[in-house]
Amino acid sequence: MSFASSVKRIAVVGTGVIGSSWAAFYLARGFDVIAIDPAPNAEDALRRYVEREWPLLQQIGLSAGASRDRLAFTADLKQGLDGVDFVQENGPERPDFKARFFAQIDAYTPKTAILASSSSGLTMDVIQAECANPERCVIGHPFNPPHVIPLVEVVGGAKTSGQTIENAMQFYDAIGKKAIRLHKALPGHVANRLQAALYKEMLYLVQQGVLSVEDCDAAVSYGPGMRWGCMGQSLQWHLGGGTGGIHHFMEHLMDPLAGMMQALGTPDVDDALKRAIVDGVLKQAGDRPVAELADEENRVLIGLLALRKAHGLA
Ligand SMILES: NC(=O)c1ccc[n+]([C@@H]2O[C@H](COP(=O)([O-])OP(=O)(O)OC[C@H]3O[C@@H](n4cnc5c(N)ncnc54)[C@H](O)[C@@H]3O)[C@@H](O)[C@H]2O)c1
Repeated sequence: MSFASSVKRIAVVGTGVIGSSWAAFYLARGFDVIAIDPAPNAEDALRRYVEREWPLLQQIGLSAGASRDRLAFTADLKQGLDGVDFVQENGPERPDFKARFFAQIDAYTPKTAILASSSSGLTMDVIQAECANPERCVIGHPFNPPHVIPLVEVVGGAKTSGQTIENAMQFYDAIGKKAIRLHKALPGHVANRLQAALYKEMLYLVQQGVLSVEDCDAAVSYGPGMRWGCMGQSLQWHLGGGTGGIHHFMEHLMDPLAGMMQALGTPDVDDALKRAIVDGVLKQAGDRPVAELADEENRVLIGLLALRKAHGLA
């Protein structure tokens, strides 16, 4: 039996922003989920979150056996990790805490389980440093919110085994995530770096008075952002090359593009720029609270996911 098909019970450790979303996702994929968090109101908050997001998950499509009743909760780490097949860790992002925390998780979890951390900012080398079984520890970094967005970045540390990485990739893919493997650990992994690269130029353009915050957002979401929801930038250039495809693009358009890269700017992220962004964002948001905007975005995203699937792009 493959590792992916052997997973029945998942521990979601830490049920804040990311852990709640992972818990809802794993329930929707038909797993038993044990959620673990010592915060006094954590169970209530998680159960309310799962209730609220369930209709959306139903629209995306539930796996056989999926049920909110399969969510269990405990504040006790040792008890929660007993008998689990996979751990998705989402605790606080402090290097000293995370390394000690992972060592504890490692000590309490059955040896056959994989321990995945959602950490955005720490490398697996740091996280696995104090573990007795570091070979089964891996980063499984989601893009927020993981119950809607498919991407998971998988990367190991120096002590992570190749088998663990392969098993984690297969597991995520088998349950409808889009796992990509990073062959080197980088601060911020990859998707957040790509986002930062784009945002650097957006800040520069706003600071230079080229356009407003609102129009800068529109330039992304009404333009290239619409295409990125369908295919990535390198494949887009194949289309941009017309009938000659990527060969034509490489011969005629890559050098001008490389020239434009040299002209990109570096913003000075000062208080005035931060204020301008805040003002521009609040103007766009109007009287819609954050939760309403998030619901709106999620509804559009599941429509996009359904369309991708219908066109064989899932
Ligand atoms: N927020 C994001 O957009 C995002 C995206 C991807 C990855 N991540 C990563 O996910 C992880 C969690 O981030 P978050 O934004 O959900 O943080 P958060 O502060 O919302 O949640 C952290 C949770 O951990 C719990 N916790 C604290 N001590 C614990 C313990 N001993 N055992 C179990 N739970 C404990 C807290 O009570 C809290 O509920 C971080 O590593 C972060 O880098 C966050």
